[in-house]
Amino acid sequence: MLRRLHPEQPASFEFTPANLEWARAQMTKYPEGRQQSAIIPVLWRAQEQEGWLTRPAIEYCATLLGMPYIRALEVATFYFMFQLQPVGSVANIQICGTTSCMICGAEDLVEVCKRRIAPTPHTVSTDGKFSWEEVECLGACANAPMAQIGKDYYEDLTPAKLEALLDAFAAGQVPLPGPQNGRYASEPLTGLTSLAELKGTGHELNASAERAREFGETVKRIDGSEAPILTKWLRPDPSADQQEGQDGLPDQEPDAAKPVVEKAARADAEKVRSEGDKEREIEAEVSSSAPENAKEDKG
Ligand code: FES
Repeated sequence: MLRRLHPEQPASFEFTPANLEWARAQMTKYPEGRQQSAIIPVLWRAQEQEGWLTRPAIEYCATLLGMPYIRALEVATFYFMFQLQPVGSVANIQICGTTSCMICGAEDLVEVCKRRIAPTPHTVSTDGKFSWEEVECLGACANAPMAQIGKDYYEDLTPAKLEALLDAFAAGQVPLPGPQNGRYASEPLTGLTSLAELKGTGHELNASAERAREFGETVKRIDGSEAPILTKWLRPDPSADQQEGQDGLPDQEPDAAKPVVEKAARADAEKVRSEGDKEREIEAEVSSSAPENAKEDKG
């Protein structure tokens, strides 16, 4: 599928101060001179800020990372997770259309989207709230058919259930994600066939749905306030590490990590050199014995 930039583009793009801080923090995760490696998270954050990836946003990210525009454009146009056209202000409904979901009724869900949102994918509904697209397998095949809406999966859908979800989202509600047919997760609909004695002893909801209920939202875009900056070396207050949601990895400043990285690089180079020497020795041995072999052959 050809992915082009949208014909209508805003004049400019700039990260919010919180998102710029987040992006700069991501860049410190990579060795000096390799900041371009942060292109995917940085583009993703730009998309989260605007809802879709505009040309000025792609160019802004390229400039931030010190890379040619075309390289950032290649990434943005390659990955389908980047939206190159405006999306609905409430949600972009991503219907999985791959095998399991197709067999279980994805085409009927697409029909709902065509009727309720817009006749064609990647088109914003007349009220501006929704857009839709068909996507490849989202890895929830045991709960087919399903859709990703915002950050969460709504599974075991039927056309009526999808319509009800759209109504709820349009009314500003936040429907609980996860299976929509009463299943806990992806166990058999007829009941557990193993570990049945554990039924009812765990959490009320599966971990993903539980987390979504805790956050109280599934479609709100990241605005810089909820995702922690997972770069401990940049945090002024180490006690923040104890907060829920922060990473539990040991502190390691990039500079402190450098000698380790350099040592590993030196060891690699030495290995390559010694393997090269060995190959050269074998080649020399072969070529020095070649005339004799030739003579032996002739003889
Ligand atoms: S086929 Fe739809 S989630 Fe895998």
